[in-house]
Amino acid sequence: MNPHCIYSGGNCWNCDYCTLLKGPPGAGKTLLARALPSILPRLTLREALEITRVYSVADALPGGEPLVRTRPFRAPHHTISHAGLVGGGRWPKPGEISLAHRGVLFLDELPEFGSRNLETLRQPLEDKVVTISRASGSLTFPAAFQAIAAMNPCPCGYYGDDRQPCTCSLSAVQRYQHRISGLLLDRIDIHLDMMRAPFQKPAPSKRARIRRRSGHG
Ligand SMILES: Nc1ncnc2c1ncn2[C@@H]1O[C@H](COP(=O)(O)OP(=O)(O)OP(=O)(O)O)[C@@H](O)[C@H]1O
Ligand SMILES: [Mg+2]
Ligand SMILES: [Zn+2]
Repeated sequence: MNPHCIYSGGNCWNCDYCTLLKGPPGAGKTLLARALPSILPRLTLREALEITRVYSVADALPGGEPLVRTRPFRAPHHTISHAGLVGGGRWPKPGEISLAHRGVLFLDELPEFGSRNLETLRQPLEDKVVTISRASGSLTFPAAFQAIAAMNPCPCGYYGDDRQPCTCSLSAVQRYQHRISGLLLDRIDIHLDMMRAPFQKPAPSKRARIRRRSGHG
């Protein structure tokens, strides 16, 4: 893992932290985010019931399973609609942030999500719920999740990289970084600048041995 990994020895899983990973392509941002659920504790029955209620309302219960037993990991694409992300529709249904309740919401390429989507994340990050208003009344869905977002530092991706020069103008770098508003940045608890770390993929024979030892092969 990347030596900058904040999760490696931490005990941060009991709090709903919001983390932003910033770094060049290949720094391991996606790798680190996808590894996060593997260090989260097992669900309690109460959490499982909370998640199951959300999935049931969203009509998203995995076939044949009456109870959700694993922590959700949701990674919506940045082209997702506003209703798909925060919830909505004529008969309001939970969106991705509620489907990530008690689990992880991974927002890869954060600046690409668009300002409307990004601004509406502020309420759930603060209140752990999202409220959807309709003429007939308002609905509140739970949204207590660990948010982990990733972004490159600039349009070309290499600003600050020690090996590859950045080809962007300073104003382009600033415009790109300002796509995340100060108000949203304020709600991010951990800002992590990641560098590309030299690493070697284990040889296939060694990979097979590791898989056998971990019971995956
Ligand atoms: N420290 C590391 N140890 C092992 N593998 C790594 C490490 N960093 C990156 N990798 C590998 O390098 C590849 C690229 O990593 P990853 O996709 O996580 O980078 P990224 O920072 O998300 O890049 P991008 O900005 O292009 O999305 C992956 O195959 C990943 O497994
Ligand atoms: Mg990535
Ligand atoms: Zn650049």
